[in-house]
Amino acid sequence: MLGTGYLGATHAVCMASLGFDVLGLDVDPAKIARLSNGEVPFYEPGLEPLLRKTLASGRLRFTTSYEEVAEFGDVHFLCVGTPQKDNEYAADLDYVYTAVTTLAPLLTRPCTFAGKSTVPVGTAERIASRIAASAPAGDDVEVVWNPEFLREGFAVDDTLHPDRLVFGVDSQRGEQAMREAFAPVIAGGTPVVVTDLATAQLVKVAANAFLATKISFINAMAEVCEATHADVTKLSEALSHDSRIGGRFLHAGLGFGGGCLPKDIRAFMARAGELGVDQALTFLTEVDAINLRRRARMVDLARELLDDTMAHRRIAILGAAFKPNSDDIRDSPALDVATRLHHAGADVVVYDPAAMDNARIRYPDLTYAASTLEAAHGAHLVLLLTEWLEFREADPAVLAEVVAAPNIVDGRNALDPDRWRAAGWTYRALGRP
Ligand code: UGA
Repeated sequence: MLGTGYLGATHAVCMASLGFDVLGLDVDPAKIARLSNGEVPFYEPGLEPLLRKTLASGRLRFTTSYEEVAEFGDVHFLCVGTPQKDNEYAADLDYVYTAVTTLAPLLTRPCTFAGKSTVPVGTAERIASRIAASAPAGDDVEVVWNPEFLREGFAVDDTLHPDRLVFGVDSQRGEQAMREAFAPVIAGGTPVVVTDLATAQLVKVAANAFLATKISFINAMAEVCEATHADVTKLSEALSHDSRIGGRFLHAGLGFGGGCLPKDIRAFMARAGELGVDQALTFLTEVDAINLRRRARMVDLARELLDDTMAHRRIAILGAAFKPNSDDIRDSPALDVATRLHHAGADVVVYDPAAMDNARIRYPDLTYAASTLEAAHGAHLVLLLTEWLEFREADPAVLAEVVAAPNIVDGRNALDPDRWRAAGWTYRALGRP
């Protein structure tokens, strides 16, 4: 497993739990030391016990040595990150090509190189020619593409029981290698879709583009609801009964963030431009814009509830992670809103059950509290921006006693408005009257 971030570490542990011998590689020795010690360096429910179990079984090890990896692997899974480039929409492929160019000259025996990282279509083909040109094993290294659809927070279950497996191959040999590598998962009933390399790379970005579009669709409806005093949660509920539409990813609120959806739609647009089909994806510009407008709307609502005065107003921000059950703060809508309010002059206090350490490092200027109650203490306004269970279940009567003024904006449509209003709160939400 090349790369031990969310994807690589989870995949390494899960493959070892299925009975394979796994070696995980990372260039960060600190990460390798922690993983070897049975510690998961990020928050992912269920992963740490499985890591310990598989380490104890002797089937899982970690290393920083490419030589060891080249010697070890029948299948090399590429799991490195492909973040957005600075000041550009395109994906930064530095980690991908560093891994490929370091490993390829060391590949002396037949093996499969399986890409899992999310890449612009055409990358797999470029990797294949680089490997063919520099691997001593030459044609005996088969390049295939096996996109990954796991969600953070459900990573173990999504890896062991995925909705589908996609194998992008250009030979029987490649397909056979993938079928063997996923034999236990396939035996569990997971459907397999075999495609060419280009289609497999596109499946991943198309899936994320569709999910982002669905979220922005309902958030666009929320804007219309706001102008008409309609209720987007009821609208969404009614739509969801149409099985052609379905209710998943139709939850209106502060919109999508994270290390995947935002950068993937932008990289997809950038790649479409290079391919001369930018018009096909122009709608994604709007998907992105709708999503970002929700953050601006949240700031406006806060301002409205504070009678246009930000200075010396304390705002409790509940949530820092980009979604619940994660400590990931990459492109977090919650921290974006917190920063905008901080810059507008408010006294912003942030609390999150899991993402505090990451938030403190990345946003040192914000103030942090150790609990919901501490954050809410003396607040003139409470904003629920990431829908952790602990916030959904918060007792409005208890919070009302510690705040300076009982004002709340439910940025994720996660609370029961009647319950909060009955406890004396002024309750506002995105897309609801
Ligand atoms: C996403 C995809 O769901 C995975 O299938 C994919 O493998 C992954 O990206 C990736 O490319 O690696 P993830 O980023 O973990 O997974 O998060 P999601 O659960 O998709 O949520 C993304 C964002 O959308 C979150 O900020 C969430 O709060 C927001 N969201 C989700 C909504 O605003 N409304 C919804 O109805 C659903």
